[in-house]
Amino acid sequence: MTGAPSETKTTQSAEEVVASLSLEEKARLTSGADFWNTAAIEHAGIPSILLTDGPHGVRKQALSADHLGLADSVPATCFPPAVAMGSTFDPALLERVGTALGEEARAEGVAVLLGPGVNIKRSPLCGRNFEYLSEDPVLSGVLGSALVRGLQSTGVAASLKHFAANNQETDRLRVSADIDDRPLREIYLRAFQRVVTSEQPETVMCSYNRINGVYSSENPWLLNRVLREEWGFRGLVVSDWGAVNDRVAGIAAGLDLEMPSSGGRSEAKLIDAVRNEELPESVVDVAATRVVRLVQHAQAARRADAGYDVDRHHDLAREVAARSMVLLKNEGDLLPLQKGSSIAVIGEFALTPRYQGAGSSLINPTRLDNALDELRAQLGDGVVSFAPGFAIEGSAVDDKALLAEAASAAAGADIAVVFLGLPASAESEGFDRETLRLPEPQLAVLDAVISANPRTVVVISNGGVVQLASFADRVPAILEGWLLGQAGGSATADVLTGLAEPGGRLAETIPLRLEDTPAFLDFPGENGHVRYGEGLFVGYRWYDAREAPVQYPFGHGLGYTTFDYSGLSIAADDAGITVRLTIANTGSRPGRDVVQVYAGVAGSTVTRAPRELRAFASIQLDAGERREIQLDIRREDLAYWDTRVARWVVESGRYTLDVGASSRDIRLQGSVDIAGDPIRVPLSPDSTIGEVLRDPIASAIIQQAMAQSMGADTVSAVLSDPGMLKMMESFPIGRIADFPGSGFDADQIAGLIAAANAQASS
Ligand code: BGC
Repeated sequence: MTGAPSETKTTQSAEEVVASLSLEEKARLTSGADFWNTAAIEHAGIPSILLTDGPHGVRKQALSADHLGLADSVPATCFPPAVAMGSTFDPALLERVGTALGEEARAEGVAVLLGPGVNIKRSPLCGRNFEYLSEDPVLSGVLGSALVRGLQSTGVAASLKHFAANNQETDRLRVSADIDDRPLREIYLRAFQRVVTSEQPETVMCSYNRINGVYSSENPWLLNRVLREEWGFRGLVVSDWGAVNDRVAGIAAGLDLEMPSSGGRSEAKLIDAVRNEELPESVVDVAATRVVRLVQHAQAARRADAGYDVDRHHDLAREVAARSMVLLKNEGDLLPLQKGSSIAVIGEFALTPRYQGAGSSLINPTRLDNALDELRAQLGDGVVSFAPGFAIEGSAVDDKALLAEAASAAAGADIAVVFLGLPASAESEGFDRETLRLPEPQLAVLDAVISANPRTVVVISNGGVVQLASFADRVPAILEGWLLGQAGGSATADVLTGLAEPGGRLAETIPLRLEDTPAFLDFPGENGHVRYGEGLFVGYRWYDAREAPVQYPFGHGLGYTTFDYSGLSIAADDAGITVRLTIANTGSRPGRDVVQVYAGVAGSTVTRAPRELRAFASIQLDAGERREIQLDIRREDLAYWDTRVARWVVESGRYTLDVGASSRDIRLQGSVDIAGDPIRVPLSPDSTIGEVLRDPIASAIIQQAMAQSMGADTVSAVLSDPGMLKMMESFPIGRIADFPGSGFDADQIAGLIAAANAQASS
């Protein structure tokens, strides 16, 4: 496939171009021309450029346009959606996907591909979890960076989305995500921060929702302060489609480009605001300049001969799909299927795969594999029987004939492989799920199959996690297949037959019940607000802190071989922590494992999860091979957000490092002492006596003054009485002034505190 968009070159800088434009023209540039294109200003040599979805393929619409995945788009490779890619834990692999996406976008003349999405999976009920990578910010950040790196290596711009805190679909265009500072920084913004600071995506897409009451599209704190000033973002902020609430407030807050077109209404508002002196023209200039810069970048990246190899990309989609599947359970090594065994394939999904989620990310695939045909091709037609079992969108357990056919197919085979999953109507952009349960007709078929043949393998297709508790103990093998893109059918066959390893590990916890999940009590909120009451304890952080049982923990996944970890050594320096260990493939097949390093701080002075993922590596080893590997933890990834000084702080102390094959399968443990960042919180009369006494400078000054006014003996009697001290510790020091006989008035205390602060900062 090739595309040859027209080339227009300009030698002027974006600032020079914008300086030559009228206010009307500049305002026009800051809104789309239509659904997918930016506005052109021909006399100034500014062509329009094309933005399209994203994220796991190119959705270039040919005729009618929409952002709901309704109208068809040109064929493009449908790579596995983010839910699958997250499970690979493999940035090198995702960089290749990013590059392939860029090649396809370039061939279609697409300047900006709208993705990746790095929002955190807060609740498994979020209808759009299939578009997000993980419940963990380091994993989302590392993998999101890889996708952006690959994509932008082709000159196509990424659009990192949805910035920020878009963690549910319910009321998504209005809801306020009410989040405390620490979880906001440490969980919900952290992946964005990593991608922005390490890859400089050309664009960031602001989310629909509000954060702590303010729309992302008009949030100066989010767009100007955090994104640009703190993180150094140099690109353009584009609105999510229809996210603009108040265009004038938005542009002042740092929202450069509104999409899609507002039909001229937003431009008129901007022009009026400038003329009425409510908005400085320089603000419009800045936004227009960023648009022109993006257009120039796109022009420079265009290739008249751009094309891509459809077959090669299909093969890559197949490789990634196999690497995404998570083998949750494999008792008695039932998998891989042995050649010669007779197999009953049951479940409509084997023939009609569910391979991507619904909504704006819907890709029109260049081809579509199904597992049944591929299994027959690999195992031989004669040994594979098929029974559909259920209708994918069926809701009642009423088709007795289908059920009986499935049971008899299972009874007549050595092994039954049952394909279950969520129908498209159960999860989509635009609404959240109501339950984690699989549809009842499917569970009824599974029951019938298990009764007919206990040697049953379950393969599931789902964009968000489903409850497995009702059958996990009754089947020997479960393969979590997520949504695997257009080559998912062949990749599933590859994994079932052992042609490929099931390379995936869980990027999100599979809970036992919905009621156990961290956000259960306040998802999706009410009356326009959703309170993130679980705070920092998202995903495995929650279950680990509560020592609560889960179905399968974060990071879990089996292969067809076994690995041994040994020889842990840990060193720390100014850059962070270096972890070394030896990993050995102790089985008889080549295989891949994902080594995970979690860190915790024993006796931390701040609230923390027991362990947090800080580094990981996906390692391929031949049978019997052993290798020393090194994993690096960046010092900044050890930091917590200190709300007292409003900045990242690395705490001093002993850091425990758990190295394992999941957050609950820790194989090696060690620790290292870290010298933290100096931090002194300025004291005030509101500081407690305990806080003052813990500050060496203030403590000395206050004790000396107290000794003078109350007598040294009284002071030492008070300070050496542990009970008394404990009781007084929580007392704000300024309140002493109100006590009879304290010997201090409010001004004196304020003076002493000011002296301590001055001495500390000198
Ligand atoms: C989605 C975005 C998407 C945009 C354009 C919106 O509804 O939230 O993710 O990129 O539409 O289709």
